[in-house]
Amino acid sequence: MTDQTIAKPGEPAVVTGPVLGIETSCDETGVAVYDRARGLLAHRLYSQIRLHADYGGVVPELASRDHVRKLLPLVRQTLADAGLQLDDLAGVAYTAGPGLAGALLVGAAAARALAWALQRPAIGVHHMEGHLLAPMLEADPPEPPYVALLVSGGHSMLVEVTGIGRYRLLGDTLDDAAGEAFDKTAKLIGLPYPGGPALARLAEEGRPGRFRFARPMTDRPGLDFSFSGLKTQVLLAWQASDGGEATRADLARGFEDAVVETLAIKCRRALAATGARRLVIAGGVGANRRLRAQLAEAAEADGFRVHFPRPAFCTDNGAMIALAGALRLAAGQHADPAIAVRPRWELESLEAVGA
Ligand code: KG4
Ligand code: ZN
Repeated sequence: MTDQTIAKPGEPAVVTGPVLGIETSCDETGVAVYDRARGLLAHRLYSQIRLHADYGGVVPELASRDHVRKLLPLVRQTLADAGLQLDDLAGVAYTAGPGLAGALLVGAAAARALAWALQRPAIGVHHMEGHLLAPMLEADPPEPPYVALLVSGGHSMLVEVTGIGRYRLLGDTLDDAAGEAFDKTAKLIGLPYPGGPALARLAEEGRPGRFRFARPMTDRPGLDFSFSGLKTQVLLAWQASDGGEATRADLARGFEDAVVETLAIKCRRALAATGARRLVIAGGVGANRRLRAQLAEAAEADGFRVHFPRPAFCTDNGAMIALAGALRLAAGQHADPAIAVRPRWELESLEAVGA
């Protein structure tokens, strides 16, 4: 049973107890249950990678349809893992954006319907906030203030985090995101989708230093990124090469080193600029082993602390959505699951239209 607080009329309900989290913004169906008092109770993920592999990228319509097929069974399995019944849930969190519209709608509709049926609050979570807070799922969670490096398929951002929902953008990508650069470069040198992790695996076998690519935008001040030129450099080197397996691995290594060193340089700059002593890594590229090793080294050298979520919580997952939702619900934030009418409604409270 939940110990859900019942709010007085007009007051937001402060939620304690297990919160279901649903992530369907792209090509993974993620479901988890997080309880602020007891931590993460269960999490499951279904990846659509094989479904999209033949097309070389995510096909939005196929993604939506597959979320429809997989979401409810995954909710049932996750609740069973946690030893909970639907009625034990104190609230339902779901990714409300950003992401693929159809894919988001599947999670939103399921979450809202479930919350409505259970008469519990529902909350739409910002996908990037989920990533930013994911390190809090681990033992020894980071205390704000910290600098977060958010590197995913859609974003390369440096963010100053001074509290939940207190985010200041320090730097952003001017073109390709870091993960996108990994994926596109992998494709150019003939690696199968999804390219990023495949390229990282190949780089493990590559020799460092045979190919040295530019560290984009590190020669001038600022915290913005630009990775689109790098893939062209790799393509030109690949076309001019013998096209052999060893060369491909060396290219992968040269590319990975360039991205990782660029990210590390900007992280150090962001820490210096804000005076923060903690760095948090989030997003799919945070699963990259060389990035983790290089930042751990920088932390040792500069005397800051670096927090990484486990690789499974760097990439998209339901746990980060359940966590972010639980924190916001605990603060009394949510939109009512039920369709509401307003028995009391001040005429003068209406918003004016036009001048
Ligand atoms: O956060 P995420 O799962 O999805 C969003 O974009 O929101 O990130 C996926 C991205 C992809 O571009 C993928 O290629 C990249 O993260 N990625 C990696 C690694 N694992 C995933 N990039 C480099 N090295 C990895 N080990
Ligand atoms: Zn993501």
